[in-house]
Amino acid sequence: MMISPAKSICCIGAGYVGGPTMAVIADRCPDIEVTVVDLNEDRITAWNDPDLTKLPIYEPGLDAVIARARGRNLFFSTSVSEAISSADMVFISVNTPTKKKGIGAGQASDLRWVEACARQVVECAKGHTVVIEKSTLPVRTAAAIKAILDIPQRQPNSGEPSPTFSVLSNPEFLAEGTAIRDLEQPDRVLIGGEDKDAVEALAAIYSNWVPTNKILRTKLWSSELSKLTANAFLAQRISSINSVAALCEATGADVREVALAIGTDRRIGSEFLHAGPGFGGSCFKKDILNLVYLCHHFNLPEVANYWNQVVALNAWQQNRIADLVVQTLFGTVTGKRLAILGFAFKADTNDTRESPAIRIAHDLLEEGAQLAIHDPKVAPEQISVDLQKKPCHPLSDLKGEGTWHFSTTIEDAVQGVDAVLILTEWEQYRNLNWLKLASLMRAPAWVFDTRSVVTPTEIADAGLRVWRLGEGSE
Ligand code: NAD
Ligand code: UGA
Repeated sequence: MMISPAKSICCIGAGYVGGPTMAVIADRCPDIEVTVVDLNEDRITAWNDPDLTKLPIYEPGLDAVIARARGRNLFFSTSVSEAISSADMVFISVNTPTKKKGIGAGQASDLRWVEACARQVVECAKGHTVVIEKSTLPVRTAAAIKAILDIPQRQPNSGEPSPTFSVLSNPEFLAEGTAIRDLEQPDRVLIGGEDKDAVEALAAIYSNWVPTNKILRTKLWSSELSKLTANAFLAQRISSINSVAALCEATGADVREVALAIGTDRRIGSEFLHAGPGFGGSCFKKDILNLVYLCHHFNLPEVANYWNQVVALNAWQQNRIADLVVQTLFGTVTGKRLAILGFAFKADTNDTRESPAIRIAHDLLEEGAQLAIHDPKVAPEQISVDLQKKPCHPLSDLKGEGTWHFSTTIEDAVQGVDAVLILTEWEQYRNLNWLKLASLMRAPAWVFDTRSVVTPTEIADAGLRVWRLGEGSE
């Protein structure tokens, strides 16, 4: 089937991927009308916020892109059916979390939202529609989508032509915090599919700003599997360097020096070698677990175990930080005030999904600590949801109940604390006046830097003790 250039795009799912991805497509293709739809009314209202201060996600540069395109050829709406019926391309960009119960619970992806989208597309689409998997999906999901789209919809004698479909895989590789740059200058765009015309129609959209040699075309299954594999390789590097960090602490080596030494080898490369409190974010863990599930499904237990270890090492890394803080603070943090700087899973995002800060804060609360939490972009309401605990001002006794409260300034957070834990690498934590902060803390006080943002000599000069992840003592 000959496919003409896309004039109207619908994206189902206005989240961290759907919102920025479609904003950049609309910005770069002013002749295409792009409508992003979602069932979540609050989210759509936030995307339509007139002065751009309440956009549902924080992402550097996003507001400028939205300002240029919104109302011109970019629209956010809750009218899902309407947007599907007037689109010639439908992107599915909905959530695909790990299943919580039933077959494959704890590993397999929960595809209920993807399936619901496919059913709604088959019901509402008109003419020929290209359906594009933008969500990260298990390999061979396109077969299930095709099966749903093949269900006859129109009565044979209704006079209305039955809709027809092509299914493509076009996974997204953006990272939060750098989403706009990643979308505007991607390392590659990947399109998997068997229908050549549909592949070329999608490639034509990206070729408005992406160099031709960066648009890769593959089989459907290769495209689906490449996305899971890319995330697994990236996460594997983090678990590898975190495992070496622990060995550095035990042996007197310094993980930053080791990372530099190995990263200068062209074959290894320098990126994704920052040791830290363990990877967070909504995808690495879920995508590797999904890969593990697929390997078991295809009777490859050795491969499954290999990848599972990347996730196991990550959980260990998160757990050992809270343990280490307790041990250093004379074996108890009950009733002690501690400041947590950074709650987002990485800098430049307000996203806390799977943030290592959640596990670490939770473990310290279990030990009875009184936490003051600071983050420049995460709202206290979100922290409350993540910790499953309401904020409360510090209790002065030693009853053992952990409490937390939100601090809007770093000075407020460190008042009377025995330790500061830096858990996110926000720029503003890099150049703190430790002399001034030390005077607000209770001696002897520690700084636990899990992100390599402090200069240890400055901390020592301020009379504080410092522990840096991946740095052993002589
Ligand atoms: P998200 O949870 O932020 O957004 C998904 C949105 O889809 C939600 O707002 C939800 O209300 C909406 N939705 C679900 N079912 C719907 C339906 N039937 N109709 C209309 N709206 C519906 O998720 P996200 O972070 O944007 O991730 C989406 C997908 O992209 C996932 O598969 C994820 O693995 C993948 N991905 C995410 C990132 C990232 O950085 N977050 C990067 C690359 C790929
Ligand atoms: C990651 C991938 O980088 C994207 O390519 C992919 O599209 C996305 O997942 C996805 O599929 O969701 P993201 O999770 O947004 O992007 O951010 P990353 O920069 O990859 O960081 C993930 C976690 O690893 C963060 O907690 C970060 O602090 C940690 N990290 C990263 C390290 O601890 N060390 C590093 O060297 C790099």
